[in-house]
Amino acid sequence: MQRDDMAGGVTTRLLDWYDAHARRLPWRIPPGDKRAGIRPDPYRVWLSEVMLQQTTVAAVKSYYADFLSRWPTVDALAAARDEEVMAAWAGLGYYARARNLLACARAVSARGGVFPGSAAGLRDLPGIGDYTAAAIAAIAYDEPVAVVDGNVERVVSRLELIHTPLPAAKPAIRMAMQAMTPPDRPGDFAQAVMDLGATICTSRRPACAICPVVEPCGARARGTQETLPVKAPKAEKPLRVGAAFVAEHPGLGAVLLRRRPSKGLLAEMEEPPTTGWTARVDGATDAAAAPLAAPWTLAGTVEHTFTHFRLRLSVWHAETNAAAPDGMWWQPVDDLADRALPTLMRKCIAVALA
Ligand code: ADE
Repeated sequence: MQRDDMAGGVTTRLLDWYDAHARRLPWRIPPGDKRAGIRPDPYRVWLSEVMLQQTTVAAVKSYYADFLSRWPTVDALAAARDEEVMAAWAGLGYYARARNLLACARAVSARGGVFPGSAAGLRDLPGIGDYTAAAIAAIAYDEPVAVVDGNVERVVSRLELIHTPLPAAKPAIRMAMQAMTPPDRPGDFAQAVMDLGATICTSRRPACAICPVVEPCGARARGTQETLPVKAPKAEKPLRVGAAFVAEHPGLGAVLLRRRPSKGLLAEMEEPPTTGWTARVDGATDAAAAPLAAPWTLAGTVEHTFTHFRLRLSVWHAETNAAAPDGMWWQPVDDLADRALPTLMRKCIAVALA
C-alpha cells in the first residue's frame, strides 16, 4: 500500500523491517501468513497479552503453551476449576491477573464464547485495561488504535524527542503513536514497535547502527537516545516485615499449607502459614506467632518486592508429626510443583528445607 506517512516514513520503515525481522512468537501470526489471509484467534491474543503484562516474553512462553494445551478455547478455560488455573499460573506473579483471566473467560463464554469486536467493548471485561483492549483490537481485529506499552513508550519518546517525564508524557506518546499507526496494519505496526523496543531500541546501549528508523530518530540525531524516556523519580517502597512458618511432617514427607483469603494480596494462593504482613510490622515475627507449638528454629529470610512495598519474611522451620490445625493441610513435598504456590512461598519452603 502506498503510504504518505509523516515523520520521515517511520511507519513504512517499521513495517518493512517487521516483514523481514518479526520475532517468531507462539501467539503471533507472522506477517506473511497474515497476508495469506490467516486471522489471529482472539482467545490466543488475549491470553498472551494478559500473560505479557509485567512479564517478559521468555518467562511467558512455557505458561502460554501449557495453558493452550490444557484449555484450547475460551469455553474450556471458563469451565476450569479456580484452583487448577491458580496452580497453572503459579510463578508468573501478579495473581490478580489469573483471577481476572478466569472471570473474563467466564464472561466471554457467557456471551457465546465470542470476544467483543472492538477495543471499547473489550475494555468492559474483567482484567482488560486500556493497553490490553488496544492490543487485542489491533492485533486480532486490525482496529487502528494506538497500542502503548513500556517498549512503545521508549521507542516513541526517542523518535519524537519527547522530554516530558513519564507518566506525564503518556498522552503525548499515545498521540504520536496514534498518528503513526497505519489503518491497514495496526496490529503488525504495534508489534513492530514492540519488537524494535525489545531487540534494538533497548533501554541501555540501543543498537542504533542496525535500527531501521535511525534516520528519522530525533534522539539519535542529538545523541540523547539513552536519556529517553525521562522518568519521574519513584518514591522508595516501604519495607514490611513478617514471618513464614514452614512445618515439616517427617512421617508424611509433607509441609503444612493453607489457602490465603479470597481478597487481598496473593488472594486464593497457597502458602505455609505466615503472619499477616499487611501492615508495616504485622504481628510478631518470631516463633510466638507460629500456627502450632513445635521446636521452631530460624532458617533464614526471604525478600520480595510487591508493587507498593518490599516484604522481608523471617522463615521459621520445625519438624512435627502433629495433626494439621483447622483450615490447613499436610501437603506431600513431592506434589509442591503442581500447587498454587507463589514464587515467594516456594522460596520460603526452599530456605526452610535446605
Ligand atoms: N509484549 C506484549 N505483547 C507483545 C506482542 N504481541 N509481541 C511482542 N511483545 C509483546
